[in-house]
Amino acid sequence: MNSFSTRSRAGAIAGLFLAIAAVGGCANLPWAEKPLSETPYTPIDAFAQNQQMGRGVAVLSEDPGWSDPAKARFKPRYFKLIHDAGFSTVRMVLTTFDHMDGELKLDPQYLARLDRMVKAALDQGLTVILDEHDYEICGKDAVLCRAKLNAFWSQVALRYKDAPNKLVFEMLNEPHQAMTAEMWNAQLVETLAIMRATNPTRNVVIGPDNWNGIEALPKLVLPPDDQHIIATFHYYHPMEFTHQGAAWVPQYDKLGVGWGSDADYALLNKELDSVKAWADVNHRPIFLGEFGAYENGAMADRAKWTYAVARGAEARGFSWAYWQFDKDFIVYDIDKDAWVEPILHALIPLADKISEATR
Ligand code: BGC
Repeated sequence: MNSFSTRSRAGAIAGLFLAIAAVGGCANLPWAEKPLSETPYTPIDAFAQNQQMGRGVAVLSEDPGWSDPAKARFKPRYFKLIHDAGFSTVRMVLTTFDHMDGELKLDPQYLARLDRMVKAALDQGLTVILDEHDYEICGKDAVLCRAKLNAFWSQVALRYKDAPNKLVFEMLNEPHQAMTAEMWNAQLVETLAIMRATNPTRNVVIGPDNWNGIEALPKLVLPPDDQHIIATFHYYHPMEFTHQGAAWVPQYDKLGVGWGSDADYALLNKELDSVKAWADVNHRPIFLGEFGAYENGAMADRAKWTYAVARGAEARGFSWAYWQFDKDFIVYDIDKDAWVEPILHALIPLADKISEATR
């Protein structure tokens, strides 16, 4: 038994409408009052959307500009660089729980900056995934997570309900620990209902518990009658290679771990095949939402792994987003104002750029 199964259904639904009403009224509705894009919303099939998402990159994670715009590292002009480099999607990494007041209302300044970022990215023709990324809080306290996650989506879904279909919602990054599979399967139904109250057909990205891990996919229960869902997973295997020496996972402290043996490729293919098999049985498009190898590995091996994962995903029809543009695992060096070329070319092979330019 968990807190979801003991909670009354009526109580949950009442809470849901209260949450929507609390922010619904005549709150800030930029798209309703003054659309940030002239393109109207039109429904798009989840498989078609996923194909269009193609190649992406995570942006804006822990950017100091979310708290103080004067300190921002990420500048809207990077969206053009990202587009011109060959990406078609940005995954906006949003840690929003600290930007809510006592009544769980999101800071208007935060939302105004989000509007500007969303508009700047859409203007470049990019698909924008709004990724709620407070997974650390959610991993510790599922009750607090429930309140804040629902409050976030009731406000953000309403705010962007008329945005073009290139805006996609990602419910929650990497549910884990306190958010067990059972709790997450209940939570996602509840949060999806909040989204659907204002966005009945917008595509929503949802992944399994256990950090969106492949092994947890079989436990993920998505509502069968909602076909506007794109399933996601994250891939960092083997952790001994991708996270060597990363401070937040001290168990992988051994440096000098390489990648690229036949056995390494075989494991990668086997694991990606298992995701494809799940997708086929469950009839869901797949978004590989995060993958990357941390800076401590040898660049040649990092590039080889990145290339193999990206091509492996593409060969199976998955869209993907590399982790990440700036901060760590970087594909763009903001301080030098230059791409990290081995990683960029692993993600977007030069040959693809040339054939696109000559088409
Ligand atoms: C986390 C990052 C972490 C990355 C790889 C992401 O989901 O937000 O903090 O660096 O996963 O471990």
